[in-house]
Amino acid sequence: METAARTAPAPVIVAIDGPSGTGKSSTSKAVAEKLGLRYLDTGAQYRAITWWMLSNGVDVNDPAAVATAASKPSIVSGTDPSRPAIAVDGADASGPIRTREVTSAVSAVSAVPQVRAILTELQRTIAAGAERGIVVEGRDIGTTVLPDAHLKVFLTASPEARAARRSGELKGKERGDLAATREALARRDAADSSRKASPLAKAEDAEEVDTTELSLNQVVECVVTLVEAAMTRAGQTA
Ligand code: DC
Repeated sequence: METAARTAPAPVIVAIDGPSGTGKSSTSKAVAEKLGLRYLDTGAQYRAITWWMLSNGVDVNDPAAVATAASKPSIVSGTDPSRPAIAVDGADASGPIRTREVTSAVSAVSAVPQVRAILTELQRTIAAGAERGIVVEGRDIGTTVLPDAHLKVFLTASPEARAARRSGELKGKERGDLAATREALARRDAADSSRKASPLAKAEDAEEVDTTELSLNQVVECVVTLVEAAMTRAGQTA
C-alpha cells in the first residue's frame, strides 16, 4: 500500500529575455499555455509606468522627475497567458501602452533605477505567487530579476527578421516603412543594452535560441523541450 504523501511539485520558473522582434511575447505566451503555467510580460509593465508618466505631465527625459513619480502609479498585471492584461490605477492600459509615443519614451523611463527597483520587486512577488510556475519575459529576467530561474532562454534574430516581425505587429498609422522600423529597433536596443541599471544582457547560463530561420511553432517546440528538460532536472514532471 502506498503510504508516502505526494507533495506538490515546486513551481517552475522560466526566464525569457532578448530584444524586441525576436518572438519573445508570442513564444512566452504559447509556452505558458502549453505547460499550464502563468505568464508575465515585464515590458508591458515598463510601458505602463511610461504611459502614466506621459499622461501625468512628467518629463520622461528628466530622470529625477521620473524617479520621484515612480512609486505613484498602481500597476496590476494579469498572468493568464490566453488573456494578458495590464491595469494602471484600476484602468485597462493594454491599448495605450502600445502607442508609438510610449514606445519612444519607454527606454528613458526604464533606465531610471527607482523605476527598475519598483518593477523588479513587483515581478518577484508575482513570480513567487505562481502556483505551478510562470514564464516571465523581459530584458533582465535571467540576469537580475530571477537569477535562480530553472531555465533561462535568450532569444535572438537578425535585424532584418526582427524589423519585419515588428512591422507586422504594428497597425495602421503606427506602421512606418521597414527601414524606419529597423532604425527605431536599433536605437531602442542600443539604449536598453547600454544603460547602467540591469541592461539587456544574456545570462551566462542562458540557452541562446536564434529564431531568424524558425517559425513560431518551431521556437515554441524548442523552448517547451528545454523547459521539460529543466523540470526533469529539477525532479518535476510537466
Ligand atoms: O518588450 P517590450 O518591447 O514591450 O519592452 C518595452 C521596453 O521596456 C524595452 O524597450 C525595454 C524595457 N524593458 C526593460 O527595461 N526591462 C524588462 N525586463 C522589460 C522591458
